Amino acid sequence: MEKEVIAALEKQATHELFAAQSYLAMAYWSEVRQYSGFAKFFHLQVAEEHEHAGKILKFLADRDVVPTIGPVESPRNTFAGLLEVARWAYDLERANTAGIHAAYETALRAKDYPSQVMLHWFISEQVEEEAWSDKLVVKVQEATCAGALSSLDRHVMKELRGSEEESD
Ligand SMILES: [Fe+2]
Ligand SMILES: [Fe+2]
Repeated sequence: MEKEVIAALEKQATHELFAAQSYLAMAYWSEVRQYSGFAKFFHLQVAEEHEHAGKILKFLADRDVVPTIGPVESPRNTFAGLLEVARWAYDLERANTAGIHAAYETALRAKDYPSQVMLHWFISEQVEEEAWSDKLVVKVQEATCAGALSSLDRHVMKELRGSEEESD
């Protein structure tokens, strides 16, 4: 594999790990504020982001590259309220999309077809990730009183993941 492609994929794997750490901070912020539904939702995001990092690292290993795993910055853990949390999630996802697109461009330039195909999965995944995080911002904006926020907290799984699972 070409060096630039390896570096681009390693960088993206580190982005995914940063996203995981960020959702972990958001999960505990939510827990402290008694938003148990959001806490559970963000913990699921932690697991998903770890899986994303794992997909890239496994791909590198399959191509005989021992990946360099970069240091992960300490994530943001202070938010004025749930709306700031939602906006931060949206910003994170947008930044992640930009990172994936940059990695894809590197793979295109290098004519690295396997990396391009692997990244196709991430490109469509990011469409979903931006969709739920955008919806999260809208839903939190619409919940203008404490009652509406606690109702959203109870139904956040269903709202954002379409799952029947709800927090109790
Ligand atoms: Fe991701
Ligand atoms: Fe994500």
